[in-house]
Amino acid sequence: MAGEFATETTGVSADVTGVAIQARGITHGYPRHGQSDVVVLKTIDLMLEAGERVAITGRSGAGKTTLLALLGGLERPQHGSLRVGADDLSTLDGDALAAYRCNTVGFVFQHFGLLGSLTALENVELAMAVASTPRRQRSARARELLDAVGLSARADHLPSALSGGESQRVAIARALANAPRLLLADEPTGNLDDESSALVLDLLAASADGHGCTIVVATHDEAVAGRWDRRLVLDDGVLGS
Ligand SMILES: Nc1ncnc2c1ncn2[C@@H]1O[C@H](COP(=O)(O)OP(=O)(O)OP(=O)(O)O)[C@@H](O)[C@H]1O
Ligand SMILES: [Mg+2]
Repeated sequence: MAGEFATETTGVSADVTGVAIQARGITHGYPRHGQSDVVVLKTIDLMLEAGERVAITGRSGAGKTTLLALLGGLERPQHGSLRVGADDLSTLDGDALAAYRCNTVGFVFQHFGLLGSLTALENVELAMAVASTPRRQRSARARELLDAVGLSARADHLPSALSGGESQRVAIARALANAPRLLLADEPTGNLDDESSALVLDLLAASADGHGCTIVVATHDEAVAGRWDRRLVLDDGVLGS
């Protein structure tokens, strides 16, 4: 089933593959008004092969979302080098970073990040519009993805009329819309029941099986963490296994 989904729904040619990640000496934190910075990540090294699938665990506040934000090009590391595929994220300018996010990354945000004025379908379509997918393909693919996450009947709902778990599944459909080479999922099953959680994990895994997408999943859930090739643990800003 997962394999069938991958070929039908990822909609990419066979030569699209995952990206390798090389992070060396990444240190990152946040400024605090009138005080020294909060240092969240401390000299992190991370090497992932193309197509590798890993879970990142660690207590709340350990820096999982921060690390995903760096990998996804939402922020630039304050120190260290970060290569994803051919891109050196530590040196890309704003436009190049935006292109990287659009063309390479699928991001499932911890708090979904859906646009409130757009329906579920339009939220998924928008990701494809940004990537210049022809208009006539967007709607069909968005419907296919919403169907895959069990939300055909909610396609025309605004986010305010979706449950938390439904919003999370729309966010997952959106993350897969452009057949990303790197899928970053921040607590992707945090709001889901066991059945929906299994469906979503199959869907994410199918994306990897279908075209070798590299996957990094941040999670507190032991069952979700155990599902991938490798587990990394963030502890006090240090990444271990
Ligand atoms: N924009 C910000 N400004 C200041 N501090 C921040 C900011 N974003 C995150 N932090 C702090 O950085 C630390 C790491 O946050 P992060 O969201 O990466 O943790 P997390 O491991 O994802 O936690 P959770 O499991 O609760 O989602 C936290 O202590 C948080 O308070
Ligand atoms: Mg988080």
